[in-house]
Amino acid sequence: MWRLVRSFAAAITQMNSLLNKSTGGSFRIDGLPRYVLGEIARAVIEGRSAGQEIIDLSQINPGSGVPGAALDRLVQSALRPHSHQYSSSQGIRKLRETCAEWYERDFGVKLDPGAQIAATMGIKEGLGHLLLATARPGDTVVLPTPSYPVHSAAVSIASAGMVGVSLFDQPLDSLSPTLDENSSGFFERLEQACDRTWPRPHAVIVSFPHNPTAAVVTPGFFERLIRTAERHDIFVIHDFAYADLFLDDYRPPSILSAPGAMERAVEFRSLSKSHGLAGWRIGFCAGNARLIDALKRLKSYLDFGIFQPLQLGAVEAILDQEFVEEVRSNYASRRDVIVGGLREIGWELESPKAGVFVWARLPESLRQHGSLEASRIMLAEAGVAVCPGEGFDPSMQEFVRFSLGVPEAKLRKAVENLARLGELQ
Ligand SMILES: Cc1ncc(COP(=O)(O)O)c(C=O)c1O
Repeated sequence: MWRLVRSFAAAITQMNSLLNKSTGGSFRIDGLPRYVLGEIARAVIEGRSAGQEIIDLSQINPGSGVPGAALDRLVQSALRPHSHQYSSSQGIRKLRETCAEWYERDFGVKLDPGAQIAATMGIKEGLGHLLLATARPGDTVVLPTPSYPVHSAAVSIASAGMVGVSLFDQPLDSLSPTLDENSSGFFERLEQACDRTWPRPHAVIVSFPHNPTAAVVTPGFFERLIRTAERHDIFVIHDFAYADLFLDDYRPPSILSAPGAMERAVEFRSLSKSHGLAGWRIGFCAGNARLIDALKRLKSYLDFGIFQPLQLGAVEAILDQEFVEEVRSNYASRRDVIVGGLREIGWELESPKAGVFVWARLPESLRQHGSLEASRIMLAEAGVAVCPGEGFDPSMQEFVRFSLGVPEAKLRKAVENLARLGELQ
């Protein structure tokens, strides 16, 4: 009996010493820089609590309302007791079938809802978990730069290494952003990165329409990307967050339409921006069955699926094309206001064909400070919060990103404030 008590006490002492040791050490997360958008959001909150009037164009939190039928379905479903049970981590069949129909209608791509689609809690969650499920510690992942910071963070969280490949031949090219099969500079850099990296890269992550630069691609770009990936035997992960947010005649292509894509590519879609459902945390991953299976297996350990009424509401949202058209038309009008306004006061920028961001080169008076300091000046002296280009890649110090997340009147006011700032400089 006493022997048992003594060994129990010894075990407790050992556990305490282990715990004490670990409380002094570093965490996995310490390897990641603070999320750049989070830092800006904090500066905005601080400014506002100090009484400053701020127009926040640093990020986007859609306030477009919600498709009515989606909300009805959510509420009706939430009234049923069984809706509050565990759901299915891969997503309910009805949602996966609707996603498959959506792909067939918009892109002519046929998907098996059983093997080639998994629901995710938005793209951030899905992409992070896909890498965690498939990249082994020490694997490498190729990322075009600049890129959405969540992509590199997901690579790092999976304990993989990142190989950056510049998307543009030179930073100024980020202002004329249509990439196609003849964008040889990018493809040569990608080939070189794949040749020189050992062990060979696990995957490349791309995202078009692009955040932050609003660059778009042609179907030929994806065809060449898949051929390159075949040659190097790597996976391709496409973050297609702005699939539905085309603002003119341009239509963003799906990578899954490219020949050979189903053998090595997946694509993430989201209802956050196009369907105004950012807070619902709902999206999905589609494509290569092996990658989808890995994602589902990991998720089966970590979550029990999205709240079922949200999944049923999402089905209605996907079917409501009129709502998405209205969202598009709002973003297009806002884009015209800010692009026109900034051009008038001497900023250099292209009108984006898709997405919810405007990428602009700082005017000379601000350029000399670099994008970080210029953003600070814009916030402090014009009350306009933007994202500095350097937050996405050090080479982007002459650029800032504006979001289209506020109504036209506020965008006009932002331009007015910046014009006044220009006069003071
Ligand atoms: C390129 C890109 N991917 C993913 C996301 C996040 O999408 P979700 O809300 O589906 O996680 C964003 C949001 O800004 C984005 O810009």
